[in-house]
Amino acid sequence: MKVAPSLLSGNFLNLTPDIEMINRSEAAYLHLDVMDGVFVPNISFGFPVMQAVARECRKPLDVHLMIVEPQKWISQVRDLGAEIMNVHQEACAHLHRTVQAIHDAGMKAGVTLCPATPVNTLVDIIEDVELVLIMSVNPGFGGQPFIPHSVKKVKELRKLIDETGSKAMIEVDGGVNEQTGRLLKDAGADILVAGSYVFSAPDPEEKIRVLANL
Ligand code: DX5
Ligand code: ZN
Repeated sequence: MKVAPSLLSGNFLNLTPDIEMINRSEAAYLHLDVMDGVFVPNISFGFPVMQAVARECRKPLDVHLMIVEPQKWISQVRDLGAEIMNVHQEACAHLHRTVQAIHDAGMKAGVTLCPATPVNTLVDIIEDVELVLIMSVNPGFGGQPFIPHSVKKVKELRKLIDETGSKAMIEVDGGVNEQTGRLLKDAGADILVAGSYVFSAPDPEEKIRVLANL
């Protein structure tokens, strides 16, 4: 299982040890959660912080934009050196155009679905994206309880991907721990995002290893 620790639960007073831990760990990506206080009821961090993080992080960056009009920020995300740019389906009036623009900038395009957005809204874009991010909590905060219905959505998405021959990876974000991670793996997930499960542990690197070995 690929693991993407979310820096949202890191120590904002001193991120260096957290980045060093992620560099040493079995993490496949570093997940960066950007919030604008409009699309979601919270504000996290922006480009100056992510630029500093990107300079020290040796894992590929998976940028999750919980913001309105994410297409306005494609070149800034590209300049971070990000591998994946995730935009919310609910935030994009012209999702196909935004996916094309992310590709033109040389990044993998991820489309994110909130818990109440059905998987079948992806039918006409699934063959064009490299990743779908299923939110298993309502976006905006770390440490929320996992929404069990998300497992059904992952199974449905796996079926859609297999039927269409899409190469999209399935990533899941919110309330991931060892138990929910196992359910998600069995449902067909490829990447697990984990914030509080990793960073609230005395040994975060060990928690990344637990998820990676599911
Ligand atoms: C929530 C963010 C998540 C968050 C997950 O809106 O997208 O990436 O950090 O945190 P946990 O793993 O604590 O649910
Ligand atoms: Zn996220």
